[in-house]
Amino acid sequence: FNILGFQQDLLSWYEANKRDLPWRKDQDPYKVWVSEIMLQQTKVDTVIPYFHNFLEKFPTVYDLAAAEEQEVLKAWEGLGYYSRARNLQHAVREVVEQYNGQVPDNSKDLEQLKGIGSYTKGAILSIAFNKPVPAVDGNVMRVFSRLLNIDDDIAQQKTKKLFEQIIHEVISHEDPSSFNQAIMDLGATVCTPKSPSCLFCPVQEHCQAFALGIEDKLPVKAKA
Ligand code: ADE
Repeated sequence: FNILGFQQDLLSWYEANKRDLPWRKDQDPYKVWVSEIMLQQTKVDTVIPYFHNFLEKFPTVYDLAAAEEQEVLKAWEGLGYYSRARNLQHAVREVVEQYNGQVPDNSKDLEQLKGIGSYTKGAILSIAFNKPVPAVDGNVMRVFSRLLNIDDDIAQQKTKKLFEQIIHEVISHEDPSSFNQAIMDLGATVCTPKSPSCLFCPVQEHCQAFALGIEDKLPVKAKA
């Protein structure tokens, strides 16, 4: 696998094709955090108006920390999975109390915060702080299972760990923020679950599943 060639092809595609999304306007770690929590079980198009409204109501960690829980839940109404909102406010209050309002820029502190698992931690560290940390969700596992012809069951926790190890090896150290977001965009727009657009894929020449014609067989997800 040609890591440098892959990074270059992926990053030039991203530079030319990145989606214009409201949480990409700056690298404010609080905004990155809010967006990644909203995006966990919810599609981009649904999240966009909620993201605008939430940031208007709670522009900083201080505003969210000081808000009544009912106000926060009201701003979340319709997004579902309300524990996401409760955990986010709980964690933001910890950031205000323990870290002087600064979102931590390291794994050890971030993973203590409620609602932050290895995906959200990686997304915040890479997107907001430019650290070369994997952010692996189902979309990212789909892209890499095809690129590297990996047929391990993506429902297994150890498979996620495997992908984290792999991405740790291949992530761009020049621009980890763009690297992770490029994989997310690739998974959303090209390397889709059904009928992926391999003919338009910027990293087609790096893809083992495409070479073997088995992109529709991957990823493997065991029935629950
Ligand atoms: N899905 C999850 N996180 C995302 C992000 N930062 N940009 C686009 N899609 C995403």
